[in-house]
Amino acid sequence: MNNHQQNQNRLMKDWRKRWHSAARLTLGLALILTGCNKSSEPSASAIDVIKVGEYASLTGTEATFGQSSHNGTQLAVDELNAAGGVLGKQLKLITEDDQSKAGESAIIVRKLISRDKVVAMLGEVASGRSLEAAPICQQNKIPMISPSSTNPDVTKVGDYIFRICFLDSFQGAVLARFAKDVLKAKRVAILTDVRQAYSVGLAQFFKERLIADGGTIAAEQNYSGGDKDFNAQLTAIKAANAEAIFVPGYYTEAGLVARQARQLGITVPLFGGDGWESPKLIEIGGPAVEGTYYSTHYSPEDQSSVVQNFVKKYRERYKEIPDAMAALGYDSAMVLADAMKRAGTTDGPKVRDALAATKDFSGVTGRTKMDANRDASKPAVFVTIKGGAFKYVETISQ
Ligand code: PHE
Repeated sequence: MNNHQQNQNRLMKDWRKRWHSAARLTLGLALILTGCNKSSEPSASAIDVIKVGEYASLTGTEATFGQSSHNGTQLAVDELNAAGGVLGKQLKLITEDDQSKAGESAIIVRKLISRDKVVAMLGEVASGRSLEAAPICQQNKIPMISPSSTNPDVTKVGDYIFRICFLDSFQGAVLARFAKDVLKAKRVAILTDVRQAYSVGLAQFFKERLIADGGTIAAEQNYSGGDKDFNAQLTAIKAANAEAIFVPGYYTEAGLVARQARQLGITVPLFGGDGWESPKLIEIGGPAVEGTYYSTHYSPEDQSSVVQNFVKKYRERYKEIPDAMAALGYDSAMVLADAMKRAGTTDGPKVRDALAATKDFSGVTGRTKMDANRDASKPAVFVTIKGGAFKYVETISQ
């Protein structure tokens, strides 16, 4: 480099430095100005509404989870508002899409707290994403209610984290009983999604109970969420002579697994947990998911007036039958509103205390009673697929 070039370089660097500090100064001024504006003149909307954050997988591989959960949540919020709101204010649900992607939930939950100043958080459906966002809510003293994350670790993050559904320790145990008593299977193969905390946990709880009840694990195979080819794993499972195959994953892969299993000539029953709950399971799996089973949180076939009322309202608005995430999403907003009313404020620590004291909240998914670990216990519902449609089988209580 000659002298002239060195000089040019120095000049460029200098110029960039100055430009950056000028830009910083302008940005700083702008922030100060908006800040002043906010504190001296709060906009009417900021004082009249209670902002509640929601993070959900509205797009991506688990899109039906987030969409259903969001629809149920929004329905509840609109009903609460129509009935006068909470503490004399209207609720405003601010929803962000995490795209079913790892890493996104933390980003958008931070945004909901710092930019939107939400006072409470609803979400997520999937345990992995709840586990990602929970520490941020905990740190900021923002009460978070997961409608449907079943992995035990979610609420262990801290005392601001709640859930209103059963845990996988329970779900895994009832699935093991189901394999033994209904499917009459003693040798069961497990195909786990190692990228999902939900799947890994549920597989473990299932395995423990199956073995405790005298069963054996014929084969243990893994995959990573997003995989499309399961032939290697299924070939190994076929060779192990399993009497049934447990797939504790989400619906996209479960549908593909079912198809590839039948193509390989595997005829034994396939079954899963609540991660299978989606119309996409049937769309993807087609005839291959006929006769399969899964456990979930609720059934729209439940004839109780609470459930039928909810199904009617939901169908009128969204033109579809609400699934478990819709029902749990609805209940999560109702449980939060109930706690705010009892707290008499939207102040984080007080709402937290009121949530922890939830004793007898009656909703679409049954009674919510928070235990000492901020978990609820509810019955599990078994569903089968028959004639291309979901059919209620039975309800198993804790
Ligand atoms: N329980 C699943 C999880 O924790 C998510 C889920 C909830 C799926 C309800 C379907 C229905 O990841």
